Amino acid sequence: SYTSSVTQTETEIDENLIVVGVSQVGAESDWRIAQTNSIKEELTTENGFYMIFDNAQQKQENQIKAVRNFILQEVDYIVLDPIVVSGWDNVLQNAKDAGIPVIVIDRNVELEDDSLYVTSILTDSEAEGRNAGYWLADYLEEQGRDEEDINIVMLLGTEGASAQIGRTKGFAEVAADHENWKILERLGGDFTQAKGRESMETLLEKYDDIDVVISENDNMTFGAVDAIQAAGRSCGPDGDMIMISFDAVRAALEAMMAGEINADFECNPLQGPLLAETIRRLENGEEVEKIQYVDETYFDTTMDLETLMKDRAY
Ligand code: AHR
Repeated sequence: SYTSSVTQTETEIDENLIVVGVSQVGAESDWRIAQTNSIKEELTTENGFYMIFDNAQQKQENQIKAVRNFILQEVDYIVLDPIVVSGWDNVLQNAKDAGIPVIVIDRNVELEDDSLYVTSILTDSEAEGRNAGYWLADYLEEQGRDEEDINIVMLLGTEGASAQIGRTKGFAEVAADHENWKILERLGGDFTQAKGRESMETLLEKYDDIDVVISENDNMTFGAVDAIQAAGRSCGPDGDMIMISFDAVRAALEAMMAGEINADFECNPLQGPLLAETIRRLENGEEVEKIQYVDETYFDTTMDLETLMKDRAY
């Protein structure tokens, strides 16, 4: 059960340190662990910060409790990685009333009043979804399949999360330009391996003519690959289904090298350095842009993955 890690307050905190409360979604994926590590590596006492970290275990109510506790503790900054886009107006108004600047990170929020946060450090999930669509169109053309009917299934991330909404929307935009692409079904997988596997099993039982699987994160992809192989089917460049994934964590690039994934659209988890720099700029009274996007790329099997992986931190 969830116990907020921010209820203990009596620790003496060096007054020269910048106190930052971080409300994290959970630990649902390899990507999430990499992003948490990146934040923890930067918000250290050596770097002038005192971080209070809360893992909300994929529940918005836990995140709201954590933010309320940060307000009670009078932290200097609140960093919120919002599990879903909506439902933040009240608690962020409380933070604003208490004079605590809020930085939104990774996933986006939808608010009545955007002044409730000072800046956001985001991944561009709509662009990720669009790029996946463009990649698929090019790939099908190369394979001489651009005139064929193409049956697609999608494994969606946590419903209402900006990463889910953006990837779904971006891909749908490109799919709408291809009359021969048919999205058979979109099924939720909550960004976890177990649910990815479960949903893929359901889809395989229902459809025997799937050409493409679009899986909105790598952990769901790992589960989906397990389900496909357990059903005696295959995916990847030599398989009977094209597998497109998002995140591009190390284990997924290894799966790509093993021939199980065709392409992977990066969601960059290395957000700690930009977060620390942003807080420093705010401390100096500088104006910070309302939206700051982290850089993102993609990988496919035409690339020298072995070399690319050498310099990769996650
Ligand atoms: O918000 C980023 C998404 O959340 C990543 O794609 C996923 O792995 C994580 O759980």
